[in-house]
Amino acid sequence: MTTAGEALMTGPGRVAPAGILVDDVSLTFDGSRPTPVLDRLRLEVRPREIVALIGPNGCGKSTLLRVIAGLLAPDEGSVSIDGRVVAAPDERVGLVFQEPRLLAWRSVEANVRFPLELAGWPRDRQRARVGELLDLMAILEVAAARPSTLSGGTAQRVAIARALALEPSVLLLDEPFTALDALTRERLNVELQALWERSAATIVLVTHSIPEAVFLADRVVVLSPRPAHVVADVPVPIERPRRLADLDSAFVSTVAAEVRSHLAGAAEGAA
Ligand SMILES: Nc1ncnc2c1ncn2[C@@H]1O[C@H](COP(=O)(O)OP(=O)(O)OP(=O)(O)O)[C@@H](O)[C@H]1O
Ligand SMILES: [Mg+2]
Repeated sequence: MTTAGEALMTGPGRVAPAGILVDDVSLTFDGSRPTPVLDRLRLEVRPREIVALIGPNGCGKSTLLRVIAGLLAPDEGSVSIDGRVVAAPDERVGLVFQEPRLLAWRSVEANVRFPLELAGWPRDRQRARVGELLDLMAILEVAAARPSTLSGGTAQRVAIARALALEPSVLLLDEPFTALDALTRERLNVELQALWERSAATIVLVTHSIPEAVFLADRVVVLSPRPAHVVADVPVPIERPRRLADLDSAFVSTVAAEVRSHLAGAAEGAA
């Protein structure tokens, strides 16, 4: 017997983990004044890796995630997932925003089902998949609830369930836990690690929290102020599964200090 988590992305016929290549991507927003946002940004993420992106406010992190998801086309360079160029909103990618962005008039269950409806899944497969996801994210009890009645942590779980609905091989998380209180955030960090262990997902996580980045990621990639490029790539060679108690260790503090110094260096370089 497989658990819902095993069935999620690693069962027969399910997607394999995917690598991401952001190949010298540049992007400028046109407006009354052109705003260069990404500057020959290069990033490789191996299949099943968790990479945390950290960088100053407004440097282009959310823009980068939208480019990886195929929601925005770069001016130069390209993004490929498993060697296939991303040229349109890509079904292989699940995206979670800073706010849950749930549909207020739909129940939790109907929010999670929404991408399956859009993709034209047959009703019985929709029902089975939604059941798996509600179970996986521990939100079965709130299946019939409206989003406005949920706590922030539960709403964000629903958003993650929805992002996983189409069995993405790549999960992009844009500051998903920023609005949560510290304890809920830590709990969801632990849950995200557990989810990743049971899945085959490759994860890119944007965060402003150095401890969160170090707890979750295999590598912390530090971005420059806008226009963003990579200024440092800091490995986090800590065994998994990690425990929150690990965050107190001297080794983690050393990694965190290294990330902090790169961030400060990038900010000074731009000043
Ligand atoms: N659609 C758009 N049109 C014009 N400018 C935009 C657009 N989207 C973002 N920008 C600008 O691009 C820059 C980068 O924005 P982005 O949201 O990617 O930054 P960020 O690193 O995610 O910031 P934060 O840390 O605040 O989330 C900002 O100056 C922003 O104002
Ligand atoms: Mg952002």
